[in-house]
Amino acid sequence: MRVLVTGGAGFIGANFVHQTVAERPDTQVTVLDALTYAGNPTSLAPLGDAVTLVQGDVADTGLVDRLVTETDLVVHFAAESHNDNSLEDPFPFVRTNLVGTFTLLEAVRRHGVRYHHISTDEVYGDLELDDPGRFTEDTPYNPSSPYSSTKAGSDLLVRAWVRSFGIQATLSNCSNNYGPYQHVEKFIPRQITNVLSGIRPKLYGQGHNVRDWIHVEDHNTAVWTIIDKGRPGETYLIGADGEMDNRSVVEMILELTGRPADAYDLVADRPGHDLRYAIDSTKLRTELGWTPRYPSFHDGLAATVDWYRTHQDWWQADKAAVEARYARTGQ
Ligand code: NAD
Ligand code: DAU
Repeated sequence: MRVLVTGGAGFIGANFVHQTVAERPDTQVTVLDALTYAGNPTSLAPLGDAVTLVQGDVADTGLVDRLVTETDLVVHFAAESHNDNSLEDPFPFVRTNLVGTFTLLEAVRRHGVRYHHISTDEVYGDLELDDPGRFTEDTPYNPSSPYSSTKAGSDLLVRAWVRSFGIQATLSNCSNNYGPYQHVEKFIPRQITNVLSGIRPKLYGQGHNVRDWIHVEDHNTAVWTIIDKGRPGETYLIGADGEMDNRSVVEMILELTGRPADAYDLVADRPGHDLRYAIDSTKLRTELGWTPRYPSFHDGLAATVDWYRTHQDWWQADKAAVEARYARTGQ
């Protein structure tokens, strides 16, 4: 099988490519990635010739059309992915997440190619901290930020192309990922690399917001499960029952790195900060038989701390610029 992975030089896409090469030797992988600040070709370097990397834009109609004629499956990870950036400059989010998805959908429609759409639980908005409920596939869309609203819009484009044009597509909406190769702008790698750089971790607001953490490898086994066994046109929520408030995550990082539990700073909150995300992944588990490989968040986090400790060359070049940007917003 030939698979075109958009955004394959980013965090989740690169992990998907590594997993695919390791576990599906009959699959030929081509990556289409614009190599924005978030795309890092060195994440794919260990794979050598096993992967073809094409530097280009998912909104480039001609390039996308040519690559889609040369593949059997498109897995669309490419996106502008960081909420804080979307509050400062939303336009790249509209262009890549909406126009880019539209461009891919038109190409898979023209050429009858199977498509899997990677999306986020943030399309459902947020839950109260004391709400016993969790998101399901039937939860109404209610996104909060420019990032999540463009992801919601991209999901709706996919659903419309399924209904109106009969494309062969599946969708997945996953909770917060952690693991190797995640950009240091994101919460967990920022705090790990802060500690490793002698900087105190930074918690927005009071640190009470809750995220539902899943190891990136589990996200990607779920994506392959949906591609292999999912019903065309269906949406599947991906989550591993990893709810935790941000303060507890920071305390765990401090424990794993041998620092005092209170060695962090409270900083300015994110405008419009979603309170809590929580995923009910019953459909994926019962209909498709998926289970996570990393049931323990503590073990997965310990492995991630070790990865950042032993891969300083991978993240050092980005660290100073990221911290300078956060300093401008008091974060
Ligand atoms: P990331 O920011 O680490 O990587 C995004 C990749 O897309 C980068 O390699 C970047 O160069 C590439 N890209 C950006 N604009 C492009 C364009 N116009 N054309 C081609 N390539 C472009 O993001 P990530 O965290 O790996 O997220 C990947 C996908 O998973 C996104 O669609 C995101 O919405 C979704 N998602 C992320 C999470 C999470 O916790 N990180 C959770 C659920 C869903
Ligand atoms: O839920 C899935 C989403 O998870 C994905 O769709 C997004 O692409 C991904 O970036 C992530 O979004 P979040 O906004 O939840 O992730 P982020 O890593 O930016 O922040 C996680 C939480 O930590 C959030 O409550 C904000 C908080 N935070 C973040 C940073 C960077 C801090 O307290 N301090 C920080 O320094």
